[in-house]
Amino acid sequence: MKLMGMCSMRGWKGVQCRKLFVFATILFAASIVYFYINFSMKTTTEVVNDNMLEEGYYAYERAAQESGGVRVIRFNKTSNDVIVFVHIQKTAGTTFEKFLVRYQQNLPCKCQAHKKRCNCGRNASNETWLFSRYSTGWVCGLHADFTELVVNSCVQRVLDKQAGHKKKRNYFYTTFLRNPTDRFISEFRHVQRGATWISSKHVCNGRPASVNDLPTCFDPRIGWEGVSLEEFISCPYNLAFNRQTRMLSNLSLVGCYEHLRRPSYEQDKIMMESAKENLRNMAFFGIKERMDDSQYFFEATFDMKFSRKMSVWGKSKSNDTVLTASQLAYIRNVNKLDWELYEYALQLFNERLSQLHRKKRRLR
Ligand SMILES: *[C@@H]1O[C@H](CO)[C@@H](O)[C@H](O)[C@H]1NC(C)=O
Ligand SMILES: *[C@@H]1O[C@H](CO)[C@@H](O)[C@H](O)[C@H]1NC(C)=O
Ligand SMILES: *[C@@H]1O[C@H](CO)[C@@H](O)[C@H](O)[C@H]1NC(C)=O
Ligand SMILES: *[C@@H]1O[C@H](CO)[C@@H](O)[C@H](O)[C@H]1NC(C)=O
Ligand SMILES: *[C@@H]1O[C@H](CO)[C@@H](O)[C@H](O)[C@H]1NC(C)=O
Repeated sequence: MKLMGMCSMRGWKGVQCRKLFVFATILFAASIVYFYINFSMKTTTEVVNDNMLEEGYYAYERAAQESGGVRVIRFNKTSNDVIVFVHIQKTAGTTFEKFLVRYQQNLPCKCQAHKKRCNCGRNASNETWLFSRYSTGWVCGLHADFTELVVNSCVQRVLDKQAGHKKKRNYFYTTFLRNPTDRFISEFRHVQRGATWISSKHVCNGRPASVNDLPTCFDPRIGWEGVSLEEFISCPYNLAFNRQTRMLSNLSLVGCYEHLRRPSYEQDKIMMESAKENLRNMAFFGIKERMDDSQYFFEATFDMKFSRKMSVWGKSKSNDTVLTASQLAYIRNVNKLDWELYEYALQLFNERLSQLHRKKRRLR
């Protein structure tokens, strides 16, 4: 109670002053408690009233509970439902995105020859039902992650802007995952050939990451072409490490990119749990090693059909990089989080797949 030293007057006035100070302190604390309770109650009611529409993202878990464990996703082609694809580098995402705009037959996009992007507008409103590279383009930044798309509400903002007014939509998030070691090597080879993704914004907590938040591994004016594997894996800020976990987690929970400077077990754990939760809430996720099953999973979930097989299309064209056992062990180790996420994802994938098969058998 050092502050009471303000009442340094002696005698009667000093006592009054101290009493007044105590009274004011209590009043202040009480009003904080009151506002806190009142406010948090208000926000809860709001969430309960609108969550189905505003946070369509969370609709599936609830739907799953309501139908006795079987997930029901009703993608309504004519209403405000939008599929959003979270494209993690080197996971067959490009193949999937091409299929969505080119070979999907139930809600076909209008594509023109020699144009990368297609119009996936709905017939009636011309508003897009697909948020992806070949429909909307990288409007939330190159390879925007969960934090940029969802936590920072970029999808909502961009689609509202295109529609010209605010609107409630149901978002159906989708992504693809891949064996983390293979993905890492594939990213390394891509960077070695000259890719950098330097223009990714990495928005978190409402602003793009600065060079201070996120140092680069190379001189941006020169790039990283021709980098050796040794150099690639020894840069601590290399975003290739555990990319899948990071891109699927809510980075606001871990102070954005702080974990790259000061790795911590606690933050890793929070990021891991967040990525798993977000994955569970996705309407669909594919696995690069399971293309046929992924195609079935998507088609059965959204009641859409592709006219070709993704497994035939998605074959990797480049030769494998030959690595020593110790290099492989090292790569596995620096992608520990991604390995945990991938193993979790495989299990979830199998569960969802057998649910879909069971549902189909019941319908027959
Ligand atoms: C889809 O949405 C439209 C427009 O909101 C509605 O009229 C229709 O009944 C919905 N269809 C289903 C199957 O829910
Ligand atoms: C949209 O219109 C096109 C041509 O007018 C038609 O072929 C297609 O079936 C329509 N799609 C839907 C979902 O109504
Ligand atoms: C629909 O939107 C696309 C691009 O967003 C535009 O090129 C096209 O002219 C629009 N069509 C109509 C009928 O408004
Ligand atoms: C992400 O984390 C922040 C910080 O805890 C939280 O306020 C926000 O609601 C979370 N957003 C999502 C979509 O999980
Ligand atoms: C891949 O390996 C085959 C056989 O060793 C070789 O003929 C081909 O040129 C290689 N392709 C590339 C892109 O390196």
